[in-house]
Amino acid sequence: MTANGASATSGAVPQEAAFDQEVPRGEPILEVRNLVKHFPLTRGVLFRRQVGAVKAVDGVSFDLMQGETLGIVGESGCGKSTLAKVLMNLEPATGGSVRYKGEEISRLSGSALKAVRRNIQMVFQDPYTSLNPRMTVGDIIGEPYEIHPEVAPRGDRRRAVQDLLDVVGLNPEYINRYPHQFSGGQRQRIGIARGLALKPEIIICDEPVSALDVSVQAQVINLLEQLQGEFNLSYMFIAHDLSIVRHISDRVGVMYLGKVVEIGSDTEIYDHATHPYAQALLSAVPVPDPTARESRDRIVLTGDVPSPANPPSGCRFRTRCWKAQERCVVEVPLLASPSWLEGAAFHDSACHFAAEREIGQSAAEREIGQSAAEREIGQSAAEREIGQSAAERENGQGAD
Ligand SMILES: Nc1ncnc2c1ncn2[C@@H]1O[C@H](COP(=O)(O)OP(=O)(O)OP(=O)(O)O)[C@@H](O)[C@H]1O
Ligand code: SF4
Ligand SMILES: [Mg+2]
Repeated sequence: MTANGASATSGAVPQEAAFDQEVPRGEPILEVRNLVKHFPLTRGVLFRRQVGAVKAVDGVSFDLMQGETLGIVGESGCGKSTLAKVLMNLEPATGGSVRYKGEEISRLSGSALKAVRRNIQMVFQDPYTSLNPRMTVGDIIGEPYEIHPEVAPRGDRRRAVQDLLDVVGLNPEYINRYPHQFSGGQRQRIGIARGLALKPEIIICDEPVSALDVSVQAQVINLLEQLQGEFNLSYMFIAHDLSIVRHISDRVGVMYLGKVVEIGSDTEIYDHATHPYAQALLSAVPVPDPTARESRDRIVLTGDVPSPANPPSGCRFRTRCWKAQERCVVEVPLLASPSWLEGAAFHDSACHFAAEREIGQSAAEREIGQSAAEREIGQSAAEREIGQSAAERENGQGAD
C-alpha cells in the first residue's frame, strides 16, 4: 500500500481553497489510515454505562486514486456502509485519519466541513426510499444548491437541474414530476443527478444498483461509467454483486469483520487472490467459460460470521479459515504485500500464509484442513456445531 505521507500538513484547519487544487490522475485523492468506527453498546436505563462496542470499522487503510473506481466487497455486516458514512462525515470517526487532497478531514466542522461535503457525494442503494415523495424532481435535484448557492445562483437553478436531468438520460421536461411517477432505474438516475449537482470529485456509491432489475442495472452502471469519464470522477463502489464490481472497478478491496483483508487491481484480486477469505468469496463468482468453470472449485465457508462486538483474537477470519495455525490466534496479520509472493500475487493481503489458491483442491482436502485448523485453534464444540449445521443446510441434508 502506498503510505503516501508526502502531502501531510501541520494539522491546522484547512482553508476551503485547499480543496480547489487539482490532483493528477493516478495520485491519491483520498488517503484513509487506520480508520476506526466503534458503536458503543450500553446497558441500564437511569445509569447508562458502556459495556462494549460494535467494532464496525476497525483499522481500515487504503488510498482512493484520482479518476479510479475502487470496489469494496464483503459479506453483509462487514462494515461497508459504515466505512462510507464515516468517509462522508455522516458518522464521526472513533479514530484514524482521512486525508482529502492531503488535508485531514475526519474531524472538520463549519465551513471547512461544508466545502468537503460539496466535493464528496454519495449515491444510496434504495431509490424508492432515498427520494422525498413530497418533493418534485426539480426540488430534489436542486436542494443541494440551497446549502451551496455559489454553485448555481437562484436564477440559474432551473436550467442547471434540467441540464443534470439531460446528463443522466432523463427528459428535462420531467422537472415538475414526483418520484412515484418514475421507474426504479429512473429514480436511481435522479439520485445520481442529485449526487452530481454540486460538481463533486468523489462519489461513494453504496449498493447503487442492488435494488434494481438486472436489465436496468447495466444501464445505470453504463451511466456511472460514462459520467466518470465526462466529469473526471473518482468512485468508491460498494456492492454485493461481485461480477458487477469486477466490471466497473480498477481496484478492489475485500472487507471482513471491519477490516480490509486484501486489496489490489481487479485482476490481482479476481484471478490471483491470496487471502483465504477473498478466495472463498470470489469462488462464487460465475465464470462464463465452461472449461474454466469445470476446473473451478467453489469454497463453501462453514460457521457464522463472528460478532463485530467480540471479534476473534489474532486473525479475525481464523474461526472459518481452513489454513489457520496457532500463529493466527495470537498475531494480527497486517495488510501488506508478502515478500514471498511475486507477479500478480504480489499485492496487499492480511494473511500470515498468503498464497494463491491451487485450483482443484478437493473438498475432502479442505475438510481435513478445516478440522485440523479447528483442533489447532481450539474452536469450541458449540461453534463447530453451528458450522456443521450450516454446512448440512448448504448440502440439503439438514432437518429443514
Ligand atoms: N448506528 C449503529 N449502531 C450500532 N451498530 C451499528 C450501527 N450501524 C451499523 N452497525 C453495525 O455495524 C456493523 C456493520 O454494519 P454495516 O451496515 O456497515 O455493514 P454492511 O457491510 O454495509 O452490510 P450490508 O452489506 O448488509 O449493507 C453491523 O454489525 C451493524 O449491525
Ligand atoms: S492469517 Fe491464518 S487464519 Fe487468517 S486468513 Fe491467513 S491462514 Fe487464515
Ligand atoms: Mg451496507
